[in-house]
Amino acid sequence: MAKLEKIALVTGANKGIGFEVARQLANKGFRVFIGARNEKAGRSATEKIGAMATFLKIDVSDQKSIQEAARELATAVDHLDVLVNNAGIIVDGDDAILKATPEQFEETMRTNALGPLMVAETFQPLLAKSSAPRIVNVSSSGGQLHDGADGWSPIYCISKTTLNGVTSQFAAALPKFAVNSVCPGWVRTDMGGSSAPRSVEQGAEGIVWLAADAPQNLTGKFLQDRKVIPW
Ligand SMILES: NC(=O)c1ccc[n+]([C@@H]2O[C@H](COP(=O)([O-])OP(=O)(O)OC[C@H]3O[C@@H](n4cnc5c(N)ncnc54)[C@H](OP(=O)(O)O)[C@@H]3O)[C@@H](O)[C@H]2O)c1
Repeated sequence: MAKLEKIALVTGANKGIGFEVARQLANKGFRVFIGARNEKAGRSATEKIGAMATFLKIDVSDQKSIQEAARELATAVDHLDVLVNNAGIIVDGDDAILKATPEQFEETMRTNALGPLMVAETFQPLLAKSSAPRIVNVSSSGGQLHDGADGWSPIYCISKTTLNGVTSQFAAALPKFAVNSVCPGWVRTDMGGSSAPRSVEQGAEGIVWLAADAPQNLTGKFLQDRKVIPW
């Protein structure tokens, strides 16, 4: 099959938006690697998706784990078409910027910003073997700077602002790639809570479009619902 086979890796794919993105990509004919730090949850998600899915253990906050995952993936496939940096956490509340601890800041930045940077850097050689490589960074409108902050989960928002910087830098460094940030909207997941207006199917839609169907020359942008939005 070699390069005719479309291959994607989604991090944090054991549940929530990441799982749904992986499921939709598999339905589109992608061979999908289910990136998860928790082996039991990752394998169970992989089974739910079926034959198009393969589990890949990866903790995006741990450089060693990322390197081991890249080595394992390189033994299974000869290229990677799509990396979806989806894994993310929120550890702070509304007033956290005045009470923020270095530990909260470091944990959030390590997972939400440094993680995607390390994953993109480490998997970039395998992506470069694709004829149309794509990196999709799952960000948040909470990271936008253009209209000021509203105080909600500030450490998380700073991490997504930083992630958008990572997107911009990788787009500049990798002109053959499509590298974009995307906001899924407010989605009903463990992170988004039950009051969120969007289903996981709706949240995944814009991510899957960037991963599979958007023009390859659309790069270095921040999008929501297939439209470019301000940084
Ligand atoms: N839900 C929303 O309304 C919303 C809005 C804007 C942006 N987003 C973004 O969308 C993405 C997915 O969020 P979600 O709502 O689906 O959240 P979720 O249901 O809490 O899922 C988060 C996923 O990330 C994984 N994860 C966290 N830290 C990880 C690490 N160090 N290594 C590997 N995996 C890790 C989790 O794994 P475990 O199960 O092991 O914890 C889980 O699979 C995140 O980047 C989030 O910031 C969400």
